[in-house]
Amino acid sequence: MKLYALSSTEELLEKVDVLCIPASKEGAEFIYQDLLTRIIHADSLPLLQEFLAIKANPAFFFGQWNGHRLKVVYWSEAEKLTEANTYSLLKKMAIKVKNDCKGKMGLWLPHLHAHELVQSAFAGWTAGHYDLGLYKQTDSNHHKSVSEDIYALLPAGIREEEAKDGITIGLVQQEVMNLVNTPASHKSPAYLGAWASRSAAQYGYSATVLDKQDLTTLGMHALLAVNRGSEQPAVCVVTHYKHPEATRKIIFIGKGVIFDTGGISIKDSKNMHYMKSDMAGAAAALGTVEACARLKFKVDVMAIAPTTDNSIDALAIKPGDVISSYAGKTIEVLDTDAEGRLILADALAYAVKEYKPDVMIDLATLTGSIVAALGPQAAGLFSKNDQLVAELEAAGSTSGERVWRMPMFDEYHDDMLSDIADIKNLSEKPYAGSITAAKFLEYFTSEHSSWAHLDIAGMGFQPNGFGKGHCATGYGVRLLIQWLKM
Ligand code: BES
Ligand code: ZN
Ligand code: ZN
Repeated sequence: MKLYALSSTEELLEKVDVLCIPASKEGAEFIYQDLLTRIIHADSLPLLQEFLAIKANPAFFFGQWNGHRLKVVYWSEAEKLTEANTYSLLKKMAIKVKNDCKGKMGLWLPHLHAHELVQSAFAGWTAGHYDLGLYKQTDSNHHKSVSEDIYALLPAGIREEEAKDGITIGLVQQEVMNLVNTPASHKSPAYLGAWASRSAAQYGYSATVLDKQDLTTLGMHALLAVNRGSEQPAVCVVTHYKHPEATRKIIFIGKGVIFDTGGISIKDSKNMHYMKSDMAGAAAALGTVEACARLKFKVDVMAIAPTTDNSIDALAIKPGDVISSYAGKTIEVLDTDAEGRLILADALAYAVKEYKPDVMIDLATLTGSIVAALGPQAAGLFSKNDQLVAELEAAGSTSGERVWRMPMFDEYHDDMLSDIADIKNLSEKPYAGSITAAKFLEYFTSEHSSWAHLDIAGMGFQPNGFGKGHCATGYGVRLLIQWLKM
């Protein structure tokens, strides 16, 4: 995506074939007076009153500029533009024009008065150019992105770098979406490790891929237990970006289950194909560190991604098995489909012991229960740290990647006590499944005072405009970037 920032409306109109105008109700009249009356012929431009009442989204017009025909895409939804709705509007707009329009694309944005809005606009526009047809070879129902070039008129006084940072964020989201949309036939723990190593080399940060031998030496018994039924050896991917002026150490931990069959406690086959997205937490954590490096944030951030399949095989763990863990605590595995908490238990304990972070946030597609509770509107947020909760809530509402706080009462822990081991991985009660999962994780955090768990099971993979069905959203990257900026 190459940006050409032009310095006047006239220059922009001269260059483009398709002019995109994302707007709010608030700004509609200004746009009408300032732009549309100049390029759209009176016959086809509705009267101001009609224009302000436009509900059909988006509205398409044809205009002329210096004898050159322009297509105008005007889209206004909200009363006022915010970072969250600007991002989603530009993303939808990009998807729409990618499918329906041809030629050079222009964005007319002089009314986006804040640099945050400009950044969100370019992040959304770039993310919206994502191409879901990873394996398509014929062109029939496949629309390649029209143009990688973007011509834009930015608001007066806003630096081009704001737009470029937005593009970077959108590109990182594209990579995260790619990792999640890649099917299990084309990805493995080693593949995720190779992605991280390549990214680290390219953007100047470090990546270490702990292999099965390392995991055995370290004693990551829970991760290795989940990996027993898999053809592909587990890894734990660790990435690190540190700016010299950073003052606190932050670790993002992401669940990296390449494909979750459920193991011997096998899942119903309906929608099992969604389970290629069970590494969305790992992808978001790794992507966020890449974004920090590319944006040169003044932070010290790590991503730790325990990664394995959850497969079925003669060697696979069986319900009732008792396994050990990095923390030395024993776990009764009553359900092999509750595997995410097992691999995270090791990663959390490892993060605390090895790196002593100031703040630790994990992201995991952990439970169907959180999907039942919150649906596709917010991730479940679990933490006893009120300040961290408030920060993540604020970052969620600003970015539009929302979170919703769930309780962490200690009474829920009782449901996880095992008769035979230190803890069991299933509460066996027909309720509060996402909370008991969070309490299980908490048991492995050594009571870290600044830890938050995000259950993103409803957020990572949704119907979100790129195709007819579910696909990756890139959820988490913009939330965490926003949180880091606060
Ligand atoms: N990966 C699933 C959770 C999930 C469900 C993610 C739906 C995305 C969409 C997880 O490993 C799982 O299977 N959880 C079980 C836990 C249960 C056995 C305690 C669940 O939620 O059913
Ligand atoms: Zn599972
Ligand atoms: Zn899972």
